[in-house]
Amino acid sequence: MITTSLKRVGMLTIAGLLVAAPLTFFVAGAGAQGRVVYQTTRKNAGTPNSTNVTTNSSGVVISYGNSAITYNAPSPKLASLGQALFLQNCASCHGTEANGVPANGTSGAFPNLVGLGPATIDFWIESGRMPAADPRVVQAKRRPPRLTSKQAVAIAAWVNSLAPSYPDIPTPNLKNANVSDGAALFALNCAACHTIEGDGDALAQGTYAPSLRNIPAYQVVEAIRTGPGNMPRFTGNLSDFQVRDIVKYVTTEIQHPQNIGGLGLGGLGPVAEGFVGLLLGVGILALVGFWVGERQ
Ligand code: HEC
Ligand code: HEC
Repeated sequence: MITTSLKRVGMLTIAGLLVAAPLTFFVAGAGAQGRVVYQTTRKNAGTPNSTNVTTNSSGVVISYGNSAITYNAPSPKLASLGQALFLQNCASCHGTEANGVPANGTSGAFPNLVGLGPATIDFWIESGRMPAADPRVVQAKRRPPRLTSKQAVAIAAWVNSLAPSYPDIPTPNLKNANVSDGAALFALNCAACHTIEGDGDALAQGTYAPSLRNIPAYQVVEAIRTGPGNMPRFTGNLSDFQVRDIVKYVTTEIQHPQNIGGLGLGGLGPVAEGFVGLLLGVGILALVGFWVGERQ
C-alpha cells in the first residue's frame, strides 16, 4: 500500500514538472515581446561579416559575401534618381532629409531612415510595405510593391549616401543549399513566431508574424539580416551558409508544403499544438501512473 502511493506521488511529481517546464517557457516568451509601436529601432546597421570584401578605387565597399550569399551596395550613380523618387513617395512622412521629421512635423512621428542599410530600405519598398497606405499604421502590411525594383534600389542608394551603412542588398545562391539543415535551423530560430508550417501567428500588442508563403528568396535574406518590425535581426549567430539553407527551406518546403513532421493538427499554431501535445502527453502519463500504481 505504502509503495503504491509513493509511486503515485512520484508519477504526479513528474507530471507536474512536465506541466511546469513549458509554462515557464511560455511566460519567458511573452516577456520578450514587450516592445511597442512604431516597432522600428536603430538596429539595422550591421557590418559585412565576411572576409570576401570588394572595394572600389577609393576604398568604398561595393560587395561582400561568399558562394552562399553576395551582398551588393546600390550604385551611387542612382542616388539622384533616388532622391527625386524619395521626395515624391516618402518625404511626406519621413521628411525631405529622410530623418523622420516631415514638414511642420515633430520629430519621432515617423522612423528616421538615415543610417539604415540598403537592404532595409529595399526590403520595405519591395515588400510593398512602403510607401505606407496609412501614416498611423502600427505594422505596415505586405502588399504588391508600388515601385519597381530599380526604383527601390535607387532610393536605397540615396538614403545610403546620407550615412553609408550595411547590410547591402543580398543575392542568395541556393544551388548547394541543404534543405534539411534549413528545416532544423528554421525550427530553432523562426518557428516560434512564424509556426513550423510558416503560416504566421499573432504576437503581442496587436502585431503579428506574417505568413512566409510566396516571399522571394532575396527578401527572406533581407528579413533575416535586418529584422523588420518586431522580428529580431540575425547577424553573427547565423552564417551566410545557414541563412541560405533556411531560405531554401522557406522557398521550397513551406511554399509547397508537404507534411514536415508531427501530426497534422490543421495548423493550429505552435502554442495550440503545444497544448494539445501537453494534454495528450500528461493524460497518457497519468494513466500509466495509475496503472503502475494499481498493479500490485
Ligand atoms: C504615409 C506615411 C509614409 C510614407 C509615405 C512612407 N512611409 Fe515609411 N514608414 C511609415 C510608418 C508609419 C512606418 C512605421 C511602420 C511600421 O513600423 O510597420 C514606416 C517605416 C519605414 C521603414 C522601416 C524603418 C525601420 O526603422 O525599420 C522604412 C525603411 C521606410 N518606412 C521607408 C520608406 C520609404 C523608402 C518610403 C517611400 C518609398 C516610405 N517609407 C514612405 C510611414 C510612411
Ligand atoms: C520574435 C518573432 C520572430 C522570429 C523569431 C522571426 N520572425 Fe520573421 N517576422 C516577424 C515579424 C513580427 C515580422 C513582420 C515585421 C513587420 O511587418 O513589421 C516578420 C517578417 C518576416 C519576413 C517578411 C515577410 C513579409 O510579409 O514580407 C520574413 C521573410 C521572415 N520574417 C522570416 C523569418 C525567418 C526565416 C526567421 C528565422 C531565421 C524569422 N523570420 C524569425 C517575427 C519573427
